[in-house]
Amino acid sequence: MAEAKGINLLGEFPKELIVLQADPILLQRALGNLLENAIKYSPPHKRIVLKVLNLGNEVQFSVTDQGSGISRQDQAHLFELLYRGKSAGREGGLGLGLAIVKRIIEAHGGRVWVESAEGHGATFHFILPQLAPA
Ligand SMILES: Nc1ncnc2c1ncn2[C@@H]1O[C@H](COP(=O)(O)OP(=O)(O)OP(=O)(O)O)[C@@H](O)[C@H]1O
Ligand SMILES: [Mg+2]
Repeated sequence: MAEAKGINLLGEFPKELIVLQADPILLQRALGNLLENAIKYSPPHKRIVLKVLNLGNEVQFSVTDQGSGISRQDQAHLFELLYRGKSAGREGGLGLGLAIVKRIIEAHGGRVWVESAEGHGATFHFILPQLAPA
């Protein structure tokens, strides 16, 4: 998707190996949904950065784009099932992606949130414990 839109997808990863106890398919789905949104809601030829931070007992994943950004009003509802924001514009979609991300991350004992100023891109963050809850 990124290639088709001429988007530069960059990764910043810690040097050390991180061991995470998580369902690999669900984790891939969560990250995939965030990357898909970042690409979908960015104009062509922008940059998207995936950053992974080792916080010690937790790992933080952040996806930053240079897209349209998200209004405060929309930020309050983005993770609800079937909610689509103003930033959706003419792009197709059902409003499922972020609701799925939230369920996956919370099922792993983590949390997810967004930081954005309208017109200045968005960063979606999630944090997972390095060991799954009992
Ligand atoms: N990176 C982003 N930049 C700007 N707006 C975003 C971004 N990610 C999500 N949004 C906004 O959040 C809304 C909800 O996102 P979500 O992924 O849940 O649904 P969708 O992308 O509209 O549809 P689907 O994921 O089901 O194809 C989107 O409609 C869009 O308004
Ligand atoms: Mg989506």
